[in-house]
Amino acid sequence: MASHAVSNGQKPHVVCVPFPAQGHINPMMKAAKLLHAKGFHVTFVNNVYNHNRLLRSRGAKALDGVPSFRFESIPDGLAETDGDRMQDVPSLCESTMTNCLAPFKELLQRINARDDVPPVTCIVSDGLMTFTLDAAEELGVPNVLFWTTSACGFLAYLYFDRLVEKGLCPIKDENCLDTEIDWIPTMKNLRLKDIPSFIRATNRDDIMLNCFLHEVDRVKRASAIILNTFDDLEHDTIQAIQSITPPVYFIGPLHLLVNRDIDKDTEIGHMGSNLWREDTKCVDWLDNKPRNSVVYVNFGSITVMSAKHLVEFAWGLAATGKDFLWVIRPDLVDGELAVVPTEFLTETAERRMIATWCPQEKVLSHPAIGGFLTHSGWNSTLESLCGGVPMVCWPFFAEQQTNCKFCRDEWEVGMEIGGDVKREEVDAVVRELMDGEKGKKMREKAEKWRLLAEEATEPKRGSSELNFQMVVDKVLLGR
Ligand code: UDX
Repeated sequence: MASHAVSNGQKPHVVCVPFPAQGHINPMMKAAKLLHAKGFHVTFVNNVYNHNRLLRSRGAKALDGVPSFRFESIPDGLAETDGDRMQDVPSLCESTMTNCLAPFKELLQRINARDDVPPVTCIVSDGLMTFTLDAAEELGVPNVLFWTTSACGFLAYLYFDRLVEKGLCPIKDENCLDTEIDWIPTMKNLRLKDIPSFIRATNRDDIMLNCFLHEVDRVKRASAIILNTFDDLEHDTIQAIQSITPPVYFIGPLHLLVNRDIDKDTEIGHMGSNLWREDTKCVDWLDNKPRNSVVYVNFGSITVMSAKHLVEFAWGLAATGKDFLWVIRPDLVDGELAVVPTEFLTETAERRMIATWCPQEKVLSHPAIGGFLTHSGWNSTLESLCGGVPMVCWPFFAEQQTNCKFCRDEWEVGMEIGGDVKREEVDAVVRELMDGEKGKKMREKAEKWRLLAEEATEPKRGSSELNFQMVVDKVLLGR
């Protein structure tokens, strides 16, 4: 593609379009900041709902941007509301797929009609926002797709159509989940239950199944794919992906590149993407705790559980006798406000911190954190590896099942706990994580991955650092 060449000494202009969820907006924001540092004019496009949430969580000026980094918003097609919780994921997937192209094209036209910003020269959009491909093709600019999952999760998604063809999906009953899948290249000892959860659909009309089949089918139209991972961690998987898709560039862990390249005391450095207001007291609390002594518990931005499971986690944590930092989003419990028992709060008062949202990257790189009880979201997993923190995994949905399997079997940094979690199991597994022989081995492994992640992002020689420059030069600038 040659028509997007930057002319008249103008800056190249990238339009970044994340999927409207926290775990997607965060890595896209990091990629955007790095592109800005490389000389791009950036337009960052949220849906209206999250644009308003960011204004509330970060203050009215948060989205003013700077002249070369602007925020815009487009409607996602769902009924307009003003909530402070994650929108319904299936509705959002279906709606963005069908309703976002028209407002996106209008936005591009509006931008290109202005004479105070350079014309759009490229698009970087989430792997679940492939409506942008139509707009990019019309405009004659490259469109890089950012799959914010692990490479192992993405590879499994690429085989969804084969699982359907082979009659393994929709599933007939829960027993099918133990079926061995031995034909996805490089993936060893894999069961159907380790494949991203949307494969558990019980009928062919399932929205999430169809959404992923649709988005994966469009991957071939991308100018390139970027993944927030690094070569040492997922080498074989990346190779397997390379052989069936447009060029793949692994550019992670992005937060390490950002921490190194973006000065925190600048306007760009201050730009944040947290949809909930951060409770910074957590970090002060950790400052007074001994090394590796605190259990960190956080299930990300989308996970919901039953009130019963919340109570089991609470009493399981209480039984460990360990200090813990637990982030409980108000919407963590399905259909009701998340409330833990008063007796639990009294009993653990001296050794716990509870917050509704925390600065997680800071928490996971804090020396006091000894283990992480997580839902295995990809950002959380990477942030944990980069902090050298071993994990107990309780995967909820999407490719978290695959991440959990790889944490357990391949990277040897995680132990899994059962879906229908019981307090005795939480107690036993968390104790093992913090004080047991297995926990010690996992901590050593996590430290190994931490060092390799640092290496991958080293200036001028790290594999992810070089890949980032390569996708910029070869694809986004078309040099
Ligand atoms: C998920 C997962 O990325 C992925 O498995 C799936 O494809 C769909 O989206 P989420 O469940 O929110 O997102 O998890 P995660 O990927 O871990 O992202 C959460 C992000 O929010 C992380 O960057 C984390 O640092 C941040 N966070 C979370 C906070 O800053 N504070 C918190 O208290 C919790």
